[in-house]
Amino acid sequence: MSLTTGTIHFTDKKDTYISNSLMRELNIDETKPIKLKLGEKRIKTKIKRVRKKGKHLFIPKSIQQALKLPRKGQSYISLNQDDEIELGPLIGILSLIHQRTLHLPFGKRTYRIKEYLKGGSNKAFYFAFGLSDINWTDETVTAYFIDSRNQWKKKVVPLPDVIYNQLKSRSSHKTKSMQMLLDHFKKHNKSIFNWGFFDKGEMYQLLDGTLEAQNHLPETHISTSSQEIKKMLEKHQFIYLKPTRGSFGRGISRITYHPKNGYFIRFRKINKNHLLRFTNFSSLMKFINQRKTHKNYVIQQGIRLIEIDKHPIDFRLHLNKNGQNEWVVAGDAAKKAGRGNVTTHVEMGGQVMNSLDTLEQVFTSSQSQEIYENAKRTTIQLAEAIERKLPYLVGELGFDIGIDKQGKIWMIEVNSKPGRSIFKHPSLKTQSSDQLRYIFDYCFYLSNQRNTRREVNRI
Ligand SMILES: Nc1ncnc2c1ncn2[C@@H]1O[C@H](COP(=O)(O)OP(=O)(O)O)[C@@H](O)[C@H]1O
Ligand SMILES: [Mg+2]
Repeated sequence: MSLTTGTIHFTDKKDTYISNSLMRELNIDETKPIKLKLGEKRIKTKIKRVRKKGKHLFIPKSIQQALKLPRKGQSYISLNQDDEIELGPLIGILSLIHQRTLHLPFGKRTYRIKEYLKGGSNKAFYFAFGLSDINWTDETVTAYFIDSRNQWKKKVVPLPDVIYNQLKSRSSHKTKSMQMLLDHFKKHNKSIFNWGFFDKGEMYQLLDGTLEAQNHLPETHISTSSQEIKKMLEKHQFIYLKPTRGSFGRGISRITYHPKNGYFIRFRKINKNHLLRFTNFSSLMKFINQRKTHKNYVIQQGIRLIEIDKHPIDFRLHLNKNGQNEWVVAGDAAKKAGRGNVTTHVEMGGQVMNSLDTLEQVFTSSQSQEIYENAKRTTIQLAEAIERKLPYLVGELGFDIGIDKQGKIWMIEVNSKPGRSIFKHPSLKTQSSDQLRYIFDYCFYLSNQRNTRREVNRI
């Protein structure tokens, strides 16, 4: 396959005209019949040379309409093994549509989606859509593009070559429409990434026993029977009780055991922090069982996180796959818990800070550097282990990393659909735009892979 970038123009002529240098770069044999391809749509055309400097492709308007090519201008252009000229790729960000209006096609998520699209709109046909924007009769989608003035432009295009899945609810994954999309993607050997949702218990089981996770996983149990809780409290004196499918710190309790003073449980309820003491284990258990709001929980060894002014600190490391299919730390930040809080979530009064600056408030400068590098290296290895163990594609992971007072690295949690809230921090400006670029580059990598991939596709 040969690949390059060129400028697409629309013309009133009958045939397709290609400039000499584009002809040469794509290695096109003009004596052979050729097809133009966008998504799964293909149209036969006659190729003619045109003398024009640079790499240009003049497509007849009739073909443009039949292909549903959304715009002219700069794009990747390639010649595949079947001698088809591929335009784009078409890359779709699948998002929830909630309270759609003319100016906010993705409701509250519109601004975020726009940010992503800016990461590659001038390189390929990069758009956002929701499940209900798909028309299954003709396998097209009403796609939302941004134009050069950052305005939304709605166009009907073929189904995308790659999807970045931004659906954040488990229920939307179970719809018929999502199943049809998966079937279509499997059939055509195309990729959707960030498919699944993680469960705190399942993720622990997945990683337990892998070399990469050795010494980095707090002891975790899926059974939350009173015997197990008792055993864990006696062993660690400090444990966390967390809903397996919770997020934003909801439903989490932190329990400490002092042989002399009894049991202390800290939790947050209706935006308030609570601390209760129980003198015996059975009254603690009675309270825990009453408080349950989720179906399943894990109990986890509590990590004595580093602290600043008595506020625990943990770290978010946002990992992405880059254009070479390698894991990179796209962004990282420290998070400080709000006063009396069990978790460090910004939504719960937590504060985002620069990672290295934060470490330097606790460790020496050279120790900080070493711990920082170690945390990044460890997290990349954990991402590789997760990827190896999962049956579907992952292109992005959000790690909650704890660092204890000895500088040891602990994986507290890994998120399958990490938010971008750390990137709002002023010191993360460059990392923020890098992260948006990695998403596009990885999509592009996946679309190119398709032509060479032999194994059955991992969605
Ligand atoms: N085992 C633990 N030791 C110390 N702190 C923890 C532990 N588990 C959770 N926390 C604190 O609670 C926060 C939320 O826990 P997490 O497992 O990430 O759940 P959520 O899915 O709600 O984000 C963490 O970021 C961390 O600050
Ligand atoms: Mg978390």
